[in-house]
Amino acid sequence: MKIDLSGQAAIVTGAAGGIGRAVCLRLAEAGASVLAVDLDAAEATRTAELVTRAGGKARAARADVSRADDVASYVVAAHDAFGRIDILMNNAGRQGAVKPLVDCDDDEFDAVMDVNVRGVFLGMKHVLPAMLTAGRGAIVNTASLGAFIGVRNLGPYAASKHAVMGLTRSAALEVARAGIRINAVCPGPVDTALLRDIERGQARDGDGDELHKRRVASIPQGRYATPEDVAGVMVFLASDLAAHIVGQGVHVNGGTYG
Ligand SMILES: NC(=O)c1ccc[n+]([C@@H]2O[C@H](COP(=O)([O-])OP(=O)(O)OC[C@H]3O[C@@H](n4cnc5c(N)ncnc54)[C@H](O)[C@@H]3O)[C@@H](O)[C@H]2O)c1
Repeated sequence: MKIDLSGQAAIVTGAAGGIGRAVCLRLAEAGASVLAVDLDAAEATRTAELVTRAGGKARAARADVSRADDVASYVVAAHDAFGRIDILMNNAGRQGAVKPLVDCDDDEFDAVMDVNVRGVFLGMKHVLPAMLTAGRGAIVNTASLGAFIGVRNLGPYAASKHAVMGLTRSAALEVARAGIRINAVCPGPVDTALLRDIERGQARDGDGDELHKRRVASIPQGRYATPEDVAGVMVFLASDLAAHIVGQGVHVNGGTYG
């Protein structure tokens, strides 16, 4: 069965990044129009261009997902461009400094929470009214394997992703009867710039390549996820094929849970 999202409109945050760009392309392939949102306006525009070049319909918007006024603006931009919002991929994220908790800056803790938790909260808060009016919609929040386990030297990040699951599960219960489904995707290691930064920070000698090889070897499937692996599950969760999946965190991790 093919996923068909034709006639639907989606917002993707973090659309300049590895997973966000892949999900924009997959949504468009399924027939949805896409608003690519990111702090990095030039790269969000590039994502929209890639979607258009592949035959899809896309626009780009610059927004800081941690600011309520920016979030309200991207919602207006989606309405202006497409006249509807069926799907929100609440995906923008920041890993923060890779340090033991005792060395973490208070400001960096706040910055991680602002993007990963406040950004997800604001996205749902501002998009849900339109979905409630329409009586349908799907939201996929990007959590992480780090939403379920401790992650050495990434305490604020792991805490923020635990919080994403709390928001996902709670909001999902509030709107399920209104025809709206909210779920999360929980990637293990994905081969993106974000993860390579983490590996460099976690490697004792500062060279992440050795650590990368060991980590890859420890994954039952013997490889990290590609952004496309994650994007495919996100699009599935947003589609009617997932019609009875509510408030879940779906793991995409090649079999690694630690
Ligand atoms: N890469 C991994 O291994 C991995 C694993 C689990 C979860 N995740 C999560 O997946 C999501 C996407 O990450 P990615 O791997 O594609 O990384 P990435 O760094 O390639 O993309 C993240 C994007 O978010 C954007 N962003 C950051 N702060 C923002 C803000 N305040 N407002 C708007 N946009 C902002 C960045 O500009 C970037 O384009 C994140 O939520 C991340 O935590 C990634």
